[in-house]
Amino acid sequence: MQILVLQGPNLNMLGQREPTIYGSTTLADIHNAMSEKATSAGIELSFIQSNHEGMLVDTLHAHYGQIQGIIINPGALTHYGLSLRDGLALMDVPIIEVHLSNVYAREAFRHHSVVAAIAQGQISGLGWQGYLYALDWFIQRKSA
Ligand code: DQA
Repeated sequence: MQILVLQGPNLNMLGQREPTIYGSTTLADIHNAMSEKATSAGIELSFIQSNHEGMLVDTLHAHYGQIQGIIINPGALTHYGLSLRDGLALMDVPIIEVHLSNVYAREAFRHHSVVAAIAQGQISGLGWQGYLYALDWFIQRKSA
């Protein structure tokens, strides 16, 4: 099973970026923890972070037909990224949307996700471990 892990704008700055909201764990730390868990479950992960919506869409197209799932934190694109939303929809694989912070406890503009309606589910507010819980869902699905 191959899973694409997509990280949107500003997530490359995790560790330094507003640590009271996003914590002190870096993106590399998160990806290392995910890799460790995935390897022992026989799952292959590809990691892509971009600050550009078109780059994320290009990445989806390049993986078309080759992956069985997507774990994505779209960053601010969550709230307005319609070309990313359409790119995710065309992939026709289960998508888990992850947010480090609880977007529903923050500014009103963060309460709407254009991705949520096409996602299998959403994890919001559980910190970096949210990515591991998303991976757990795929691990359980694989063994079902
Ligand atoms: C975020 C929440 C978004 O509103 C924000 O724009 C981000 C990070 C999160 O992980 O909590 O960049 O997706």
